[in-house]
Amino acid sequence: MERLQKVIANYGICSRRKAEELISKGHVTVNGKLVTTLGTTVSDKDIIEVDGERINKEQKEYILLFKPRGTVTTTHDDKGRKTVMDYIETDKRVYPVGRLDYDTTGVLLLTNDGELSNMLMHPKAEIEKVYIAKVKGILSGDEINRLKRGVVIDGRKTAPAKVKVQKVDKKAQTSIVEITIHEGRNHQVKKMFERVGHDVLKLKRERLAFLDLKGLKSGEYRYLKIKEVHQLYMLAKK
Ligand code: URA
Repeated sequence: MERLQKVIANYGICSRRKAEELISKGHVTVNGKLVTTLGTTVSDKDIIEVDGERINKEQKEYILLFKPRGTVTTTHDDKGRKTVMDYIETDKRVYPVGRLDYDTTGVLLLTNDGELSNMLMHPKAEIEKVYIAKVKGILSGDEINRLKRGVVIDGRKTAPAKVKVQKVDKKAQTSIVEITIHEGRNHQVKKMFERVGHDVLKLKRERLAFLDLKGLKSGEYRYLKIKEVHQLYMLAKK
């Protein structure tokens, strides 16, 4: 935490004395609220504006989390459940790019880069998402083809998907299926399998674009490399 006048001055806008004047004369807001008290302290997370212009741009941060089961993909949960933020230590305002269900595990990207986040989530970007699903029963050839071609969920057909059955347990009557989609509709994978008569018992996102879980255990995270951020921009812009 630092004193507001020091932060303003440090951004090279003006001297400390001038910053104090700006504050006491009512030119400065912190998180949208007018601040005229000189002793006020602020952190990196606070949004400081002088005459309505933001002066402290947050450094961009890009985090790849192996989301564990039993966590909500939000920054705060009213019901007091664990959120993905409980696994991350940061002083930046990062938030998840898209959602994974409470019981879904796997690749989750978090960032404070709103531009990239919006681009990645835009349907036109067609970012690949690879899921491994453990489903009830054994899929027939026809069911696999229906999933590949697209099935109607919530009144609209899904885009073509790649589907590979990886393993079949005849005794337990379950299958492990890899499914690759590029849309991001609500509960999409579960609904797609349900549509062809197979409930999803477990779901994991193995890959988002080229980002996978290599080197991470459940609940662990890493920062993206600059090169990876550039690659994501390139993919999303296509
Ligand atoms: N599809 C789902 O059904 N759930 C997820 O968490 C992600 C994709």
